Amino acid sequence: MIGTKKMNSKKTKTPQKNPKYKILFVSSELHPFAKTGGLGDVSNSLPKALKNLYQDIIVLIPAYPFAVQKAGTIKHIAKINLPLKGFPGHLGLPIIEGKKNSVSIIETLLPESKVKVWMVESEIYNRPGTPYFDDNNREWDDNDFRFALLNYVAVEIAMGRIGLEWQPDIVHGNDWQAGLIGALLEDEHLSKKNMRPATVFTIHNMAHMGVYSKDRFDALELPKHLWNHHELEFHDDFSFIKGGLVFSDRVNTVSPSYAEEIQHEEFGYGLSGLLSYRSERLSGILNGIDMKEWNPAKDTMITKNYSIKTLDNKQKNKSAVQKHFNLPKKKNTILLGIVARLVYQKGIDLVLEHMEEILELPVQIVVLGSGDLELESRLRQWVNNYPEKIQIQLGYDESLSHLIEAGVDAFLMPSRFEPCGLNQLYSLRYGTVPIVRETGGLGDTVIHASKKNLNNHTATGIVFHESKGSTIVDAITLSSLLYQNKDVWKKLMITGMKQEYSWKESAKKYLKLYGQAIKDRNKYKKHAPVAL
Ligand code: ADP
Ligand code: GLC
Repeated sequence: MIGTKKMNSKKTKTPQKNPKYKILFVSSELHPFAKTGGLGDVSNSLPKALKNLYQDIIVLIPAYPFAVQKAGTIKHIAKINLPLKGFPGHLGLPIIEGKKNSVSIIETLLPESKVKVWMVESEIYNRPGTPYFDDNNREWDDNDFRFALLNYVAVEIAMGRIGLEWQPDIVHGNDWQAGLIGALLEDEHLSKKNMRPATVFTIHNMAHMGVYSKDRFDALELPKHLWNHHELEFHDDFSFIKGGLVFSDRVNTVSPSYAEEIQHEEFGYGLSGLLSYRSERLSGILNGIDMKEWNPAKDTMITKNYSIKTLDNKQKNKSAVQKHFNLPKKKNTILLGIVARLVYQKGIDLVLEHMEEILELPVQIVVLGSGDLELESRLRQWVNNYPEKIQIQLGYDESLSHLIEAGVDAFLMPSRFEPCGLNQLYSLRYGTVPIVRETGGLGDTVIHASKKNLNNHTATGIVFHESKGSTIVDAITLSSLLYQNKDVWKKLMITGMKQEYSWKESAKKYLKLYGQAIKDRNKYKKHAPVAL
């Protein structure tokens, strides 16, 4: 009010109460039970963060044998008869369990938490390998059946039909493997007039869309009316992810920049029109990291713990990495690390194209990864030619990934696209300077070591723009030069270590998103036709 004197403004703080939701979080990966990449990490750490905000959350995953084995104590809690006729007996694939299409649900807890995990037990998951591939890295040819089953089970739980007294307010699906839930729940609502829970769908990677043929659509017993190009049909095939994008009350992705990028042709993979059409329901929420699991001061998987105050101890981890990889111990040569799925997305081929120039620089490189066989063998060749400068370990190794984060000086992520990226966040926390391409979450989380940013102490890494091998060479050259100036490098490390990329803020944003999804579901309108 104009003219009034400021009153004694001692406000009594009313504690902000969060709403409490029942959430079914559906994912194909869950660390430490089943993980191939960041989806596994997020499916672990986000539910834990939500639990800390007093949410009633259950994570639903397939009962892969390796997941069940790691889970330890499990109990059988339900048997579900699915409303399906023959699925997946078609096409000569195994019938779920006898004649009735029934599956069991077993329950365990996520380690070091009170988050319940429900696993769907079925013959169709009972295989070795990874969630998606066999031991020879070949994709299972019935992944559509495997994950459609997960979606059907999620719908039964969502509709309160499994004989347990728990029905979610929100079903939160992740990536294409959970994309049909939105469509099937909408069908419950439209065709069967059942009130459904609100739906949220998170895109961790638009490049994987779960595209399958019309035959499979029929075999999966999907509602026939969904076969049209406004709904599931996608260029004469159909797409799981499209189901999540068209039908979910809210759609989000894992960084603000990626939410923007996928609305354009290059990263929308034929669905950018749909995504921009739904832009009012689309947002970006940056992933957080598990601050307990990725903490250099307490990490039990590294050689010597350290913090900002004891930064010199990081050097012992560098020596341990050099020893592990049989590289000569060079204290003053910058040691670069890569831990990644070796796939097109990660831009490793761009590094390989210019490897000779890179290895001419005063650098050492260690790589931990697996994936594309050609990339693996090209990397091996460089190891044969320059064993003192580059070493690789093929395969998946959780504890080595921690040691690399702790021991290398800089972490290289030359991704062509990166929805969020977690390794640059782990690197920042470990005083390991990230060298990243400015794309998606990488650009949102790393601040380039320009003169200005170095002077005002905001720089946390090296950021380059173009997706080109020569640009990567320039970025590595700049890193090795900056590394020679110990004060500058130390400042970069410390500024990075002071960044806060926990789930604290992001988990609250998910709560807000859930609230919006419920509102949208309540003022229900049939989704408008999509302009593609
Ligand atoms: P993406 O999900 O695209 O693979 P992210 O950066 O989000 O990329 O997450 C990758 C996660 O997977 C990190 O936790 C990383 O340490 C882990 N990871 C990737 N490859 C390996 C590997 N070969 N061994 C151990 N951990 C790996
Ligand atoms: C995806 C993305 C990665 C992201 C992760 C977790 O696999 O490739 O950028 O960090 O999901 O959201």
